[in-house]
Order: sequence, then structure tokens, then C-alpha cells
Amino acid sequence: MNELAQSSGFSGHNVEGGFDVDRVRQDFPILGRQVHGKPLVYFDSGASAQKPRAVIDAMTEVLEAQYTNVHRGAHYLSQTLTDRYEGVREKIAAFLNAPSENEIVITRNTTEAINLVAATYGRKFLNKGDGVLISDMEHHANIVPWQLLRDEIGIELKVAPIDDRGVLDMDAYAALLDGNTKLVAMTHCSNVLGTMLPGKEIVRLAHERGIPVLLDGSQAVVHSAVDVQDLNADFYVFTGHKLYGPTAIGVLYGKADLLAQMPPYQGGGDMIATVTYEKTTYQEPPYRFEAGTPPIVEAIGLGAAIDYVSAIGMDAIAAHEKALLAYATERLTAMPDIRLFGSAPEKAAILSFVQDGIHPFDTAATLDRAGVAVRVGQHCAEPLMARLGVDGTVRASLAMYNTSGEIDTMITALERARSLFG
Ligand code: ALA
Repeated sequence: MNELAQSSGFSGHNVEGGFDVDRVRQDFPILGRQVHGKPLVYFDSGASAQKPRAVIDAMTEVLEAQYTNVHRGAHYLSQTLTDRYEGVREKIAAFLNAPSENEIVITRNTTEAINLVAATYGRKFLNKGDGVLISDMEHHANIVPWQLLRDEIGIELKVAPIDDRGVLDMDAYAALLDGNTKLVAMTHCSNVLGTMLPGKEIVRLAHERGIPVLLDGSQAVVHSAVDVQDLNADFYVFTGHKLYGPTAIGVLYGKADLLAQMPPYQGGGDMIATVTYEKTTYQEPPYRFEAGTPPIVEAIGLGAAIDYVSAIGMDAIAAHEKALLAYATERLTAMPDIRLFGSAPEKAAILSFVQDGIHPFDTAATLDRAGVAVRVGQHCAEPLMARLGVDGTVRASLAMYNTSGEIDTMITALERARSLFG
């Protein structure tokens, strides 16, 4: 096992070896539990992924032995924990291949990262009539912040269409990069359809017209290696809890020159340089955007999660998930009563479907009785549901710890739903 694998707490294969899913599963304590008397089959990682022991232990260790505030104390604990906390910023930068840790802003989640860009970059650089271009498969987190800005300053929200496979229509996208479009804000991977969007091409086309791009990588960073320099994205956002880390921590990567021009997001401690009653001056990025005590323990957890996935290797994880996706797609499409949504050639292991004549909540309840945890409903993507012509879907979102045997369990439960409700 290599050094990184050992220090990350990863007990499975090394990067050179094959992907050993049984060993990976041993790193996730919750996967040993039962639900309704059945082994848990966790197919809801798109909502929030389970945590490996390495993440749980890192957070516990800080709370038990190292905890204090950061950036404030002159004492030993504060200095050592500040170093460790700032070390996580470096890990995040390396994970995204960002040029500098100063381009990494720590937020509460993806939602806050997008709201931050809307509230700072948006308020400063967008004017009445300017267009913000999104896609027709966005999470509400990349719709509503722009609507708030629309209501406040009168921007126009523009939507690039998708085809029936769930693929972005690139011709329509390019055509929408017209005179009034001043920002593109798009998902890098659909949380409903699994579609991987061509981030590099999206950025290239926008940049040809001088338009900056924000990519929402909440799902993408989990399923594939992301390189913000290769993408050339101006902003890239993701959340910790889908990447096997804790909740309440997210990331905004922003190019240094853009962050430097943006005003603060929230006011408070830690983001200031000097304060008098007459005038306050602000820190340089990234601290300017991080008011108040940050999510310290959560940052340590995210750092442990990044170490963990890096030790396994994003390419090994992607290959395992690709095989799972192919198998699940084959099994689901062989069922005559299943309607599967999303068949993009570039797709992450996320499967949304409905069963003919059965309410998605009944399908999901039957799966639950078999121990299979899925998400059901609109998946925070109501406009996409309207585009698909459904009220909601069942969504099985797979992760590195899932197996083909678990897919078989889901198929058997779907057959049971057919016999119960069909
Ligand atoms: N965004 C999360 C999901 O897709 C909550 O389920």
C-alpha cells in the first residue's frame, strides 16, 4: 500500500492494483447495518454519501485532542489547528488542480458558494438586462440565486435546452452566448440524469465571447477527476458531504483576478483587515469571503475525505462506477415496465426512472422495505421534471462502495413492486 493510502486510513487496494470493492466497503461502518431486517443497500449517495472511518476518525480526533478556534489564538492549540485547517485548503487546491490555495474559498455548501458568486460578482458586474445562462437540467441551487438577482437588479435568466437523452444542445448553447449573456452558470453533472456536461467546451465557447463560466461540480467531483486549469472554469463549486466528507462545508474555487475584484459576501470577524466606526477594510481573498468562525471540524473531515478518495484514485473509482452504471442500465432496460431517464454517452452512475402505472413513491417504498435507499420526487430540479414530463422519478445514485449484487437486490424489489402495484 502506498504512503498516501496508509496515511488516509484507506484499507483497500493500492493505486496500482485492482479496485477491491469489498475492502472499500469495510471502510464504511454504516454499510454493515440492516434496514427493515435487510442489509442496507445505499443508493442515495447523490443526496449525501456515506462516510469512511478515516473521515469519522479525523473529526473525532480533532474534537478530542486538538479542538479550538482557528486564525485567532496565540496559543499552541490554535496555531497547530490553524496550520491543519489551512492545510486542508491546500489539499482542496491540489484536488482541483487549482493554481493556488488562495483561490479556494471555504463555504457552507454548494448552495452558499453559488449564492456568494451571485451576491458579490453578480451585484458588482451584472446590470439590468444582462443575461445569466443556465441549462435545462439545473439543481434549484443554480436557479434560485439567479432569480433572486433577477428580482433585485433585473438580469435575464436564460436556459439552454437539452435533448431527449439529457444532453445539452451545444448549438443552442452557442447561439445563446449572444450579446446580452454576461455569465454562464451550469452544472458539470446532472444530479437527476447523470449527464456529464462538456465543461471544457462550454468554457471555451463562452470565453471566445469574453463570458466567464461557473461550473457546479457537486456531482462531478464525486465521479471523476476534475482539473479546473484544464477546464479553464472561472468559478467551480462543490460540496463536502457528497464527496464522502461531512455536511456544512463546501468549496468555491475562483480565479484569483476575479476574486480580487469581488466585494465581501458577509461581514463579520476574520474577513476584515481593520475596523473603525467610520471605515472597515477587508482581507485579501479567500479570507474576505469567510466571515465568522469557519467550519473547522468539517474542514478536517473534508481533508480526510480528499485523502481517502485520492488514495484510491479518482480514475479507479470512475472505472468501478462505470461498470456499475453499465450493469444497472442493462438490468433496468431489460424490464419492460421501467422508463429510464437520461442516456447521455458521458454519464455518471445516477439512474432516474419510473415504473409504468406505479407511483414513484410506491416504487421507492417497496425498495425501502427491501433495504434499498433511493431518493424519490423532484430531486430539487422541478423545471427538469417539467421538461421530462413527469411529476417525479425514483433515483438510484451509486457510489464507489456499491456492488452489482446490490443492483440485483434493487431489480428483485422492483419486480416485487410490479407484483404488488401493477
Ligand atoms: N442535491 C442533492 C440531491 O441531488 C440533495 O439529492
